[in-house]
Amino acid sequence: MSGIKTEILKDTFINEIIHLKEIDSTNDYLHALALKGYPNGTVVISDIQTRGRGRHQNIWYSPEGNLYMSILLRPQKILHNTSSMLTAFTFLGAISCVKVIDELYSLKATLKWPNDIVYQDKKLGGVLTETRFTGSDVLFVIIGIGININSKLETFPAEITDKATSLIHLLAKEINIEDVMISLLLKLDYYYKMLMSEGLNPILKAWILNNSTLGRKVRIETADNSYEGIAEGLDDLGRLLVKKSDGTVSALSNGHLFYL
Ligand code: BTN
Repeated sequence: MSGIKTEILKDTFINEIIHLKEIDSTNDYLHALALKGYPNGTVVISDIQTRGRGRHQNIWYSPEGNLYMSILLRPQKILHNTSSMLTAFTFLGAISCVKVIDELYSLKATLKWPNDIVYQDKKLGGVLTETRFTGSDVLFVIIGIGININSKLETFPAEITDKATSLIHLLAKEINIEDVMISLLLKLDYYYKMLMSEGLNPILKAWILNNSTLGRKVRIETADNSYEGIAEGLDDLGRLLVKKSDGTVSALSNGHLFYL
C-alpha cells in the first residue's frame, strides 16, 4: 500500500493495492496472482478492462472512468457448500456498494438478486464472485466489483442503454473513483469481519434491508427450467425463495431473474 489516502486502510485486511492502466479482466489477473500465492487482501484495480466479465459469460462494458476492482480473500472455512460461499461473498460485495453510494452521495441504490446494484431497476454495478477449492477447503475467493461511475448514458452500448445507469448520470457531477474505491474497501473490511465472526445471518439481514427484489413478481430461468412466481424471501443459505402459482416454493442458488 502506498500514498497518503491508503494510510486509512492500515487497520483493514487490505494488504496491497495493484493499480493497472489496462487489463483484460481484473478478476482473471487476480486469479493468476492468487495461484502464485498472493495473500489475503490483495486488490487489483484497472482504469480499463478489455475483456471485463459479468455473470453467465456476459461482457462487462469497461471503458475508462468507472471502477473495476477485484479483491482476493483467503477466508477460514465458515460455510460448507460452494454455492453458499459464493452467495455470502457476492452479497457482502453488493451490500458494501449500496452502503458506500448512500454514505458518499445520499443515493439509495438497491440490490437485485443475486448480484446487481440497481437504481430504480437500472443497473449501476455488479459483483462477480469466483472461488477455488482444494477438496472441500476454500483456497481463495475473488470478489470482482464493477460500478458505472463516470460513463455517460449516451456512451453505453445500444443493448444496455435502457437497462444501465451511472453515478454521473444520477448525480449530474463527475465522481472521484478513488474516493469510491477507498470507501468500498473500508466497507468490505467491515462486512468481511462481520461474516467471519458472526456467520452469514447478519449479511442476509443487511441484504434483505437493502434489496428491491423481494415481494416482486419474477420470471426465473435456470439451465433446465423456466418459471414465474413471487420472490418471497431468502433461506438461511441465502437462496432465493420463489413461490410459484401452484403454491410450491423453489429455493434458488443460481439463475437469471427478470422482473415481470
Ligand atoms: C455482473 O453484473 O454480471 C457482474 C459484473 C462484474 C464486473 C466486475 S468489473 C471488475 C471485475 N472484473 C471482471 O472481469 N468482472 C468484475
